[in-house]
Parts: sequence; C-alpha cells; structure tokens
Amino acid sequence: MSSNKHIHKPLHRAWWKECSVYQIWPASFKDSNDDGIGDIPGIVSKLDYIKKLGVDIIWLCPSYESPQVDMGYDISNYYKIDPRYGTVEDVERLIQGAHQRGMKLLMDLVVNHTSDQHEWFKQSRSSKDNEFRNWYIWKPARYDAQGNRHPPNNWVSHFQGSAWTWDEKTQEYYLHLYAEEQPDLNWEHPPVRKAVHDIMRFWLDKGCDGFRMDVINFISKDPRFPDAPVENPEQIWQWAYCHYANGPRLHEYLQDIGKILREYDAFSVGEMPYVRDPEEVLKAVRYDRNEINMIFQFDHVDIDHGPFDKFVPNPWKLTDLKKMFNSWQTFMYENDGWNALYWENHDQPRCIDRYTSAKPEYTTAAAKMLATVLALMSGTPFIYQGQELGMRNVPKEWGMDEYRDIDCLNHWKGHLAKDPENTEALQVYREQYQRKSRDNARTPMQWSAAAHAGFTSPTVTPWMSVNPNHKTINAEAQLSDPNSVFNYWRTVLGLRKRYLDIFVYGDFVMLDFANEQVFAYTRQFEDQQALVLCNWTDEPVVWDPTAHSVGKVQEVLLNSYGVSEKYQDKHWPLRPYEAAVLLVEPTS
Ligand code: NOJ
Repeated sequence: MSSNKHIHKPLHRAWWKECSVYQIWPASFKDSNDDGIGDIPGIVSKLDYIKKLGVDIIWLCPSYESPQVDMGYDISNYYKIDPRYGTVEDVERLIQGAHQRGMKLLMDLVVNHTSDQHEWFKQSRSSKDNEFRNWYIWKPARYDAQGNRHPPNNWVSHFQGSAWTWDEKTQEYYLHLYAEEQPDLNWEHPPVRKAVHDIMRFWLDKGCDGFRMDVINFISKDPRFPDAPVENPEQIWQWAYCHYANGPRLHEYLQDIGKILREYDAFSVGEMPYVRDPEEVLKAVRYDRNEINMIFQFDHVDIDHGPFDKFVPNPWKLTDLKKMFNSWQTFMYENDGWNALYWENHDQPRCIDRYTSAKPEYTTAAAKMLATVLALMSGTPFIYQGQELGMRNVPKEWGMDEYRDIDCLNHWKGHLAKDPENTEALQVYREQYQRKSRDNARTPMQWSAAAHAGFTSPTVTPWMSVNPNHKTINAEAQLSDPNSVFNYWRTVLGLRKRYLDIFVYGDFVMLDFANEQVFAYTRQFEDQQALVLCNWTDEPVVWDPTAHSVGKVQEVLLNSYGVSEKYQDKHWPLRPYEAAVLLVEPTS
C-alpha cells in the first residue's frame, strides 16, 4: 500500500482539508466558578488564546449530562449540558464566540453507547416488553452442562471483564463494550438511528459545525454475536474486534449520517479503532463516498501496546513508526481519501514522552520537532490542549491515588485481585501507567506558574492535581517568549496555510526510510517541493541530502532552532531534535 515516487494527481479541494483543530477536555481546561472542574464559561474566556494559536476549529469533548463514569463518554441526556460544565446557553455562547473569531466548533457524538442512567436504558431494562427494550442489545444466558449461567459470548470489555452484564430483573444480559454503565445501543433498530439523527440536527441547528464521532465503527456488529477466536488462552474474555469493528451495516449507517452532514456542510471525524484493512477505512472517507471526512486511525498510538494489554511494554523503532505513516500517507493520497493527523488526545499520553526519550531540558526541542513532523504531513492536524506548550506526562513519583481514569484504575484493580503477590508485575504496571495512562493527558491545563497552574483558584483543590512542571511549562511564559513551543506551533500552522498547495494538496514521499535517527519526507505540488527534515534523537546527527536525491535548496522556510544552517554542502548537521523545512528544487 505504499510507494516512494512522486505521483501528481489533483486532489479534491475542501475547506475541511485546509483547517487545523484544537481539542478541549472540558474538565481540565479552565475553571471559571471555583469548583475545581473546568467548564464552558472557562473555555469562552480563553477563546482569544485558542485563536492566537492559529487553529480553525475547536473540538469540545463530551460536556453533556452524565454520571461521569467515563468522564462524560457515558451520556444520560444528549440535549442537556452537565451542570458541572454549564448550560446549553453556555454552549451557544461558546459557538457564538468561536464564530465571531472565525473559528468553528465541533461537538463529540457518542452514540455507540449511552449511560445506564439514560432514560432510554432505564426504560429498556424495566421489562422485556417495554417499547425501549430493543434500543439496547439484550441476549439470553448460555448454560453449561452443570447448569451454570454464562454470558452470551466470550467478548471482553475495553475496561476489563466480560462485555456483558446480567440483569436480575429481566433475566437477560446486555452488551457494553466499555464499562457496565455504558450499554451499547442497538443500531439495527430504526428508532435508534432516528434518535441519533435528531441529536445531530439539534446541535447543528444550534450552530455547531460538525462532530467528532466516538468509536463510530463499532455501531454495526455481527448480528450473530459469535464467540471471538481465543487468541489469549490465559484469559476467558477475548478481544472481539473482528465481530464489532466495521460490521456489515456500518457504511449504510454512515451514508445516512453523511446526508445530514452534507446538508449542513459540516465537518466530521470518526474514531475508528482496530481497523487494519485500509480499504475499509477508504469506504468511510473516500471523497466521493460522502460518509465522513476523515478518521482517527490507531496504528501509531498502539505502537507501544502489548498484544492483548496496552499496559504491557512493547518496544518499537523509528522505522516502525515511519512505516505506519508512510502507508497511510501514500494510500490516502493515491485513493482520494484524507487523514486526520494526531499525536495526542484525551486517551493518549503526552507525545514527547511516548515518542521520544527527551529529558526535561529537551522538552522544547522535542515538542517542536514533533509539531513539525505532524502538521506538515498530508491531512488535517489535531492539537490536544497543552500539546501546544509541550506538556508532559504525570511525574513518575505520583502514587496511584493521583490517577483518576477508569481504564487505568480497573486494570490496576484487576491485577491486584488476580496476582497481588507478584510485585515485579505490579511494578511494571505502575511504570506503564505513568507512560500510557489516559490520566497523562487529563491533568489541568498549565496556564501560569501560579498555584494550580492558574487552572482554578489557589484555595480550591482541582479534580486532578496539576503537573508540578507548570512552573516552567505554562502558557503565560510561552506567549511572551518568541522561541516557545506555543509560538513555534503558530509558525508551523501559519506555514501550512501559506504554502497550502504543497502542505495540504501536495503528495508525500518519505526519504531515507531505513534511518533510525532521522524522519524526513517531501511534499510536492506541481513544481514546488518542500523537504521536512527532523532529527528524532537527543544527539547531533549528520545527514547527507545527495544520498537521497534532494534538489538544490531554494529557501529555508523554518528551522526549529531559529538560526538556520546553510544547507549547501553534502553534510547537513542536525542538532538534537532539530527540525527544518526547506523549499527545494524538485528532482522528479
Ligand atoms: C473512545 C473515547 O475516546 C474514550 O475516551 C472513551 O472511553 C471510549 N471511546 C468510550 O466512549
């Protein structure tokens, strides 16, 4: 699925290809009412900051009414905003404030499942003949020869244990691919689809400009609900993606959704874990399919996950990462698809910690390098709050009492219950939580060096501790520093806009593929070519452009160290984590 030649074909132009997106995790962005939890008025108060970064779209993570078992990805009312975040009117003000500044606002559409506190589920579980019974996935038990009751199949939940929970009252199991408080909706049932379409229209009519769609490829499941193949014999419950990721009716459902999105000329990005077949992705995102604009693929964020458990270490090399990007970049370009580009989001650790081994003193250099590699590839770049400052993972010294996330805490509890004496494994898991837990992305935004990083009042205890490194990594300091990560991001996003043809509509060719220290690629549009060259290590590296048929340098567009080299001889020195962007003469 990859090629290393320049293929020049006109890509369809679209406004959403030219944009970049800033993601907000409402609980941790800015607290305006001193309850220790971020809120929507807090976001409104920071709109000028977001605008300054140079992004075009804001993606607001779920802020609907929710019992918060999974931080709002368990929705109990799609038409109300959770009181801790504000009101529907606050969201209207947010939309208005974004629009006034020329930005758009995306809502999170979480419709694979609801909360068990949603009225639909309360009705559904109340009796077998309730009109909402069929809105969720209910199945009878299986019994073994001894008459013991078992779930309908062996699927594992993403948050540990069986994906089925027994309901005493109606004597059936319901499916939940995530927590038991997050029952899966039954998309086969037409009223469910109609209800989702109504929710979309409600928010679009309020002026929202599109959606990020939570695990959207899980909405169609194999209707037979068969057992998953036993790939991990040590566990009863098995991963069953093959039966629920990109199921048989997915594209039919996405076509319906696409019709609504087109009516409003809305933006859409779908989260699609566990799809390894690019043709399946293409069906969702190819320009003429009219389903969704782009998807989040997972190859590069799963790179350090163990085969059955993300909290098991899995070493990787730079060439593994390059291979993944090279495949998706060339595949989408050649097939009229489109990529969403991201290193971070609310489910991922901080990118400097995941993708580099940068010591604190290299935070700025590494953050700039990662910004350059990402934002100048082909696709729509997504920046997660704090990434524009180079925020880092939680400190190694933090105990488990600092962690808040159900994913990590359930894993920890599961292990303590199963193997409490195995202190070696416990230690490995502790290290892995610090490397991979979702908590790493969820610490409060670092606005200043003040108490609680200026996220909330000094006298208030924030819902999650701030990272002590806010004394050095914070927005206030960076806004006034021309060499900060924040100002570098502005420059990179500005460059992408200034050379739109190259960086949005140009092709992608990876150079020097086998190099484990340097990440290099070109983008070319007609006869304009740019070279993006990055040192991925904390050591100086020398790169030979002639070995990779790089044409004559016409202009240095950007250098992450500010001062640029001359790039004239055969040997180009690259400082630790240095990134350079050069206009070069095309050679093919
Ligand atoms: C994906 C979301 O990004 C994640 O945060 C959430 O826990 C699951 N989907 C379930 O909604």
